[in-house]
Amino acid sequence: GGKDIAVIGSSNMDLITYITRMPSEGETVEAPDFAMGFGGKGANQAVSASRLGSRVLMLTRVGNDLFAQSTIENYRRNGIDTDLVLPTQAASGVAPIFVDEESRNSILIVKGANALLTPEDVLRAEEDIASCRLIVLQLEIPLETVYEAVALGKRHSIPVLLNPAPAQPDLELEKVRDCQYIVPNESELSLLTGMPVDSLDDVRNAAAVLLEVGIANVIVTLGSRGALWMTRTEDRLIPGVAVEARDTTGAGDAFIGCFGHFLVSTGDTAASLEMANRYSADSVTKRGTQSSYASKEEFEQILRG
Ligand code: RIB
Ligand code: NA
Repeated sequence: GGKDIAVIGSSNMDLITYITRMPSEGETVEAPDFAMGFGGKGANQAVSASRLGSRVLMLTRVGNDLFAQSTIENYRRNGIDTDLVLPTQAASGVAPIFVDEESRNSILIVKGANALLTPEDVLRAEEDIASCRLIVLQLEIPLETVYEAVALGKRHSIPVLLNPAPAQPDLELEKVRDCQYIVPNESELSLLTGMPVDSLDDVRNAAAVLLEVGIANVIVTLGSRGALWMTRTEDRLIPGVAVEARDTTGAGDAFIGCFGHFLVSTGDTAASLEMANRYSADSVTKRGTQSSYASKEEFEQILRG
């Protein structure tokens, strides 16, 4: 039967090294800790929405290695059907991630199989995707594939949410103008529009450019300051929640997955953004990416205080 959310995007294995500092060239430095985890922006968003109770369709490509096997198992464990998790003659996507003592992260991405998710893959899954109520996209797969998914959403009148991450200078705004929601962070917004984002007014002016292109809702995530939601008639800052950060990796994805979940289940954008702020704030207090995403029960507990 139909699902709630179709996520079309990446799967990565995150190789997280906790460091005191980066080695310089020719130097060897000991690092205190390492953890492997399931990641990739698409996968993270799918898993957070599924943990909160959405029925999620995941269209993604994994490689033909050990990482692929455990990635497929991870989707199953998180209640996500693996019919459209496509094994590929390639290496799985990996992300070597470095987290320092101030919880700042640096991420390398090796796309691997994610680079082979094609527009044809989207078209082959059209019927299944068309039975969902929201399509969620990021930029760790080829742009042509993203554009095809936006067109599919338009054909079937399904709202599309684009998280333009990681920032991609080649993204053509005209080709994503039919998205109902675009959710960049400040640096992605700046790159998309070529405008400064030094103050909240700068952010508003840059967001207005995306509204002019035709995108109905622009939501700019501002980290612990929350999120700015703009439409042609709305301009609302939904304040964030201050927490002590331990590892911010994947917090943006937790925000998107949670926002998508509540948007589909309530239709209330402002209330869904408030939930997303709370959910992503909780994730930064815990180490790792998906390993830091609360389940529905844990999140209800957090909301009760
Ligand atoms: O947004 C965080 C994600 O970015 C990580 O899980 C890593 O895989 C990279 O894709
Ligand atoms: Na985290």
